[in-house]
Amino acid sequence: VFNKSGLTTLPSILLVGPSGSGKTSLLTQFERGTAASTHTSQAPIAVECSLPVSSTAGSDKYRSIHDPTHSIHKKFLLVDTPGHGKLRHYALDTITSPQNLRGIIFLVDAATLSAGDEGLRQTADYLHDILLLLQKRSESKTGAKALKEIPVLVAANKMDLFTALPAALVKSSLENEITKVRRSRSKGLLDSGIGMDEGDDEKDDWLGEMGSKEFKFKQMEEFDVVVEVEIGNCLCDEIFY
Ligand code: GTP
Ligand code: MG
Repeated sequence: VFNKSGLTTLPSILLVGPSGSGKTSLLTQFERGTAASTHTSQAPIAVECSLPVSSTAGSDKYRSIHDPTHSIHKKFLLVDTPGHGKLRHYALDTITSPQNLRGIIFLVDAATLSAGDEGLRQTADYLHDILLLLQKRSESKTGAKALKEIPVLVAANKMDLFTALPAALVKSSLENEITKVRRSRSKGLLDSGIGMDEGDDEKDDWLGEMGSKEFKFKQMEEFDVVVEVEIGNCLCDEIFY
């Protein structure tokens, strides 16, 4: 794959998620093997990372084990974005005009996801928007050149904290909260009169299966978006995946 200047663009993985969830910590963990101390990010940063020699990239799963390319590090770009509400356009732009985008890691702080927590609402809000963008991307015909399938890893971080929710609860809490976001967004559209004339507009902004009561991540598969939830933490050696 070549970009305009004729240089190869590495496959890139986008790191998104609310402020303070640990995106930059995860990036430094990948870059140097330990998480460095971080400040709130104000601009995106990309670092070149490589998979360990022992791991097989998805794109290589049909390659013979005797293929010499197996013993080379597989390089990729990890792109960290700011989570602050006013700076999310960096993340959203990367999804709408992707440079060899291969996957998205949505990092959440698992310790701020209990019912009624403001963190849960904000996280669900952001995740709803990212998923809706991916859904629209798959529906638009102009996106035909882009890779169709985009895997999304919802990585529940800070599992070292005792207030962190376990994986199954992270998943169901986010699904429940996204159900609420989805409902209030569609109500907002009706109240404001937007989408009243063209019934299609409202449909375009509905995440997942039309008419479904509850939102489930599984509903995204129809749009070639596969969502998985994993847990982990950045501060010790064991990170996700
Ligand atoms: P923005 O740049 O504002 O979007 O935030 P961010 O997602 O980049 O968060 P950042 O990496 O700066 O981490 C925020 C805080 O969480 C830092 O104080 C980290 O040390 C802490 N942190 C990150 N990962 C973990 C973890 O796994 N466990 C614990 N306990 N703290 C963590
Ligand atoms: Mg950051």
